[in-house]
Amino acid sequence: MKRPLILIVDDEENNRAVLESRLERRDYGTVCASNGTEALKILSDVSPDLVLLDLMMPGMDGFETCTRMREITKGVFLPIIMLTANDDKESRIRGFSVGADDYIDKPFDMDELSARIGAMLRIKDLKNQIEKKDVEIKRLSAELKGRYADMIGTSAKMKEVFEKMRGASGITSPVVISGESGTGKELVAKGIHYGSSRASMPFVAVNCAALPKELIESELFGHKKGAFTGAQSASEGLFRAADGGTLFLDEITEMPAEVQAKMLRVLQEGTVRMVGSVEETPVDVRVIAATNLNVEECVKAGKLRQDLYYRLNVLGIKLPPLRERKEDIPLLARFTISRLNDKFGKNIKGVTEEALEAMVEYDWPGNVRELQNVIESCYAIPGLEAIDVKQIRTQNLFDHKQSGSGEDVMRLSDAKKKVLLEALAKTGNNKLKAAKMLGIHRSVLYKMLERHGIKE
Ligand SMILES: Nc1ncnc2c1ncn2[C@@H]1O[C@H](COP(=O)(O)OP(=O)(O)OP(=O)(O)O)[C@@H](O)[C@H]1O
Ligand SMILES: [Mg+2]
Repeated sequence: MKRPLILIVDDEENNRAVLESRLERRDYGTVCASNGTEALKILSDVSPDLVLLDLMMPGMDGFETCTRMREITKGVFLPIIMLTANDDKESRIRGFSVGADDYIDKPFDMDELSARIGAMLRIKDLKNQIEKKDVEIKRLSAELKGRYADMIGTSAKMKEVFEKMRGASGITSPVVISGESGTGKELVAKGIHYGSSRASMPFVAVNCAALPKELIESELFGHKKGAFTGAQSASEGLFRAADGGTLFLDEITEMPAEVQAKMLRVLQEGTVRMVGSVEETPVDVRVIAATNLNVEECVKAGKLRQDLYYRLNVLGIKLPPLRERKEDIPLLARFTISRLNDKFGKNIKGVTEEALEAMVEYDWPGNVRELQNVIESCYAIPGLEAIDVKQIRTQNLFDHKQSGSGEDVMRLSDAKKKVLLEALAKTGNNKLKAAKMLGIHRSVLYKMLERHGIKE
């Protein structure tokens, strides 16, 4: 650790020299000033850890110097110890009133002075630690807010989801999130957790489908050493790891039936029992479960215990697939691009109109994750300025027909034109109705009409 640096301010050379050598002997660094003006200059140059300030000095005296020092060091904790020449109560009081932290009478005892310096530096140290924690707290809370705000969408369906998330954050009841793969189930679970009063406690995610059947129980509830072959050491289990926070059980329908029964007990009793133990330990865990299957059907088929489902499904959040909220696609694309620009240090400007149109037309079976992947793969193209329909189609991820030969594209284009004309005929030329009928946004319809040369 760095030696603390002490600024000695005294007009008498002899005093300074004695203090300097004695403090150096006690392993403090020193720097000296013979008057107030010099002291102020040194203060802003070297930022000492503590000041020993003589009161009686010609010119700027100790009181005034102290006042100025406090002005310069606003917001910084700089201990100032005044050196008073005699036992003068009034000077001491005045000293404290202009910002001194302590005083010592001259002639002083070196042990006492050293003890007082030590006490002040301990306070300074604590203050530093608190400041560091403050910075950390600010950073974490910004991170949390960021994570919560990461969820994008302005469609009515997503607004409904956000509303439910807010509601779920305010209570601690279990939640079941369902939705197709890539619709943002885990993001919703995190959003609920980080938006709740449990935000500073752990969020623990476990994928029930990824764990071998024999291990799920001990992973969740923990095990004692030697509870089974291979249990060389004890493990506390994920429930206890999430104590005070949230446990996210992904793909809940893949949990073996016996474990589901145990889960039910944990939820009812609020206690867990390690594998190989008879002891019940209380835990305070909020459970959020997710599935990309139809939960009701899983219950009917016996894959998910009905009683567990009822326990868990206090709050149900269904995430709409991306194709049912296509108006969110442009926003998601822009958001993804700005994130990836940061991540890869690139500057892709955006998506061309035509590419956006193709994206809005496409059905996205892999939902938001697929959209992100398609955009991310464009980052492999050197010097790309904007994502164009060409890049998207070479992904081969969607609309295979359109990536074929020129002839195919021609034919597809004709087919599209036919569909557009039909829709307009059926709706008596009502573009809004025609767009609804085709399941596309009105603005996309306009673009397509233009591109296919269909006029009034
Ligand atoms: N509304 C959204 N706004 C921004 N990003 C989103 C949104 N929904 C999903 N994502 C992003 O899409 C990706 C997939 O989300 P997530 O992992 O939460 O989906 P999931 O439903 O859990 O999928 P799976 O069933 O495959 O596990 C993540 O990178 C996530 O950040
Ligand atoms: Mg997931």
